[in-house]
Amino acid sequence: MKIEFDQLRAGTVHFRLVEEEDAAFICGLRNNPVLNKHISQSSAVVDEQRAWIKTYKNRENLGQEYYFIICRNDNNLPVGTIRLYDFQHNPKKSFCWGSWILNENKPRFAAIESALLVYKFAFEQLKFEQSHFDVRKENTGVHNFHMRLGAQHIDGNELDNFYIYPSSKYYEILNEYQKFLG
Ligand SMILES: CC(C)(COP(=O)(O)OP(=O)(O)OC[C@H]1O[C@@H](n2cnc3c(N)ncnc32)[C@H](O)[C@@H]1OP(=O)(O)O)[C@@H](O)C(=O)NCCC(=O)NCCS
Repeated sequence: MKIEFDQLRAGTVHFRLVEEEDAAFICGLRNNPVLNKHISQSSAVVDEQRAWIKTYKNRENLGQEYYFIICRNDNNLPVGTIRLYDFQHNPKKSFCWGSWILNENKPRFAAIESALLVYKFAFEQLKFEQSHFDVRKENTGVHNFHMRLGAQHIDGNELDNFYIYPSSKYYEILNEYQKFLG
């Protein structure tokens, strides 16, 4: 699928696809003790991260997964990551998103802009009907973020809360949130 990148640009940040050269940046983010309290562990070895990206690129070519670097619009510097994966087709066309991390150089509204860009890409370009995702129970800030945007908290276990976000909700809030998309 040809991605329309001009559509993946919000008020202060935009997305570009992850490349092998981003391995060191991703290692730095994922091994930052301030940022990695509520995400799954990944290797701090740059060459292992590079190898992971290489196999991811095969999935990207097949349209099975998309891993983006979130960059500032003013200087193009990378400030974070976000990933769409676990594409399901039954009973609904649904995707999971995660690997969502923003560093201290993020513009103030990078979080809301990047979440909106994920939904915009998934619902408008990839034609998904719904998103499913999970958040660590102790990650209350991110729980509140999703609830504020209209996610449905559907279930939980000892470790995680589970949510869905239907495309209809995205189209419902779009007018109010258009200002973040620029
Ligand atoms: C998750 C993460 C990317 C979120 O970014 P963040 O900048 O902390 O997000 P915030 O909820 O503070 O939102 C940023 C701004 O957008 C605003 N905002 C958030 N949701 C909004 C909404 N629905 N409408 C309007 N504004 C909104 C916030 O109020 C905040 O602005 P403020 O600083 O003036 O209060 C970041 O905290 C992070 O990298 N965390 C570590 C990794 C992690 O836990 N990832 C998630 C795993 S599930």
